[in-house]
Amino acid sequence: EKGGYDTFMEKEINEQPQAVGDTLLGRTDESGALSLDELRIPEEKLRQVDRITIVACGTAAYAGMVAKYAIEHWTRIPVEVALAHEFRYCDPIVDERTLVVSISQSGETMDTLMAVKHARDLGALTISICNTHGSTIPRESDAVLYTHAGPEIAVASTKAFLAQITACYVLGLYLAQLRGGVHADNAGQVMSELHEVPGKIDQLLHTMGRVREIARFMADTRSVLFLGRQVGFPVAMEGALKLKELAYIHAEGFAAGELKHGPIALIEPGQPVFIVVPGPDTPHGLHGKVVSNIQEIRARGARTLVIAEEGDEAVVPFADEVIRVPHTSPLLQPLLTVVPLQVFALELSTAKGLDVDQPRNLAKSVTVE
Ligand code: M6R
Repeated sequence: EKGGYDTFMEKEINEQPQAVGDTLLGRTDESGALSLDELRIPEEKLRQVDRITIVACGTAAYAGMVAKYAIEHWTRIPVEVALAHEFRYCDPIVDERTLVVSISQSGETMDTLMAVKHARDLGALTISICNTHGSTIPRESDAVLYTHAGPEIAVASTKAFLAQITACYVLGLYLAQLRGGVHADNAGQVMSELHEVPGKIDQLLHTMGRVREIARFMADTRSVLFLGRQVGFPVAMEGALKLKELAYIHAEGFAAGELKHGPIALIEPGQPVFIVVPGPDTPHGLHGKVVSNIQEIRARGARTLVIAEEGDEAVVPFADEVIRVPHTSPLLQPLLTVVPLQVFALELSTAKGLDVDQPRNLAKSVTVE
């Protein structure tokens, strides 16, 4: 049942090209335009949406944070991401023109379910992005956009995360197309770039030898920091979450720009820091800014583990290790940059002799509030 792999998690990491590919499948018509008939929400209603709130927990919430950057850019609709368990208690601003998008692998997470019910009570339109057919959250929502990652057994979410991000991109591009925003014309181009991603993940998965080695050397590490910027920020937090839940190591993800506002005080000689570097073509010179951050922490003795695009030579002088990912456009990068962080956590957990698929104190779906 583990398909020749030692753990479900390893199997599921290796199924990620297919999870992304299958989630894209059937979501465009012959002309290449996005068509989401499965939503069964009148287009008119979707055109009226003037605010989007994403509700989710854990890894699914990080998928939501990635989605915020992409959906706002493509649609110019303001997107807020709320942890589902906080949503009901912050007197949320929601009305009939609010689209509440829940993201859940299991479709049974109680916190997320209660947030969806609350949103519906307030009159919002609700769409569930979900991986489990017939589960509760899709049933309680106006519409569902399924991720087609296949069953995810390991407690740590991997392929569902990539499928969730993919589904969010599809939804964002669909809304952009529907509303004829500035980026509507680009939707086809982004879709064709997305179709290239599964092959790139596959390629990346074949180059993880060094990441595994680094993880094994770090079995005694007590703390690891993760930095990222823009869409790399949620990736940094996801990398930290994977390490906490699988290897029981203290880990924190930061927005790279926050460093000088406090976290840089944590840097002491030997402190391992992963840095998720935006591609050199990311707007607003973000690449150079993150390279400066690497330089700053290296000067203070950090051990810099840099995730950068192939061909990005600017990072080399400041990196103790460079982990290469294939090129893709800036907003799509999380589908690639998170993969080495998943493999790192898996391998470190294995090196410590821990139960990869069933970490202590955790359940696959959290069905209590
Ligand atoms: O089933 P869901 O997607 O609603 O679950 C949400 C979180 O509980 C889940 O992503 C959790 O954070 C994972 N164990 C992370 O790997």
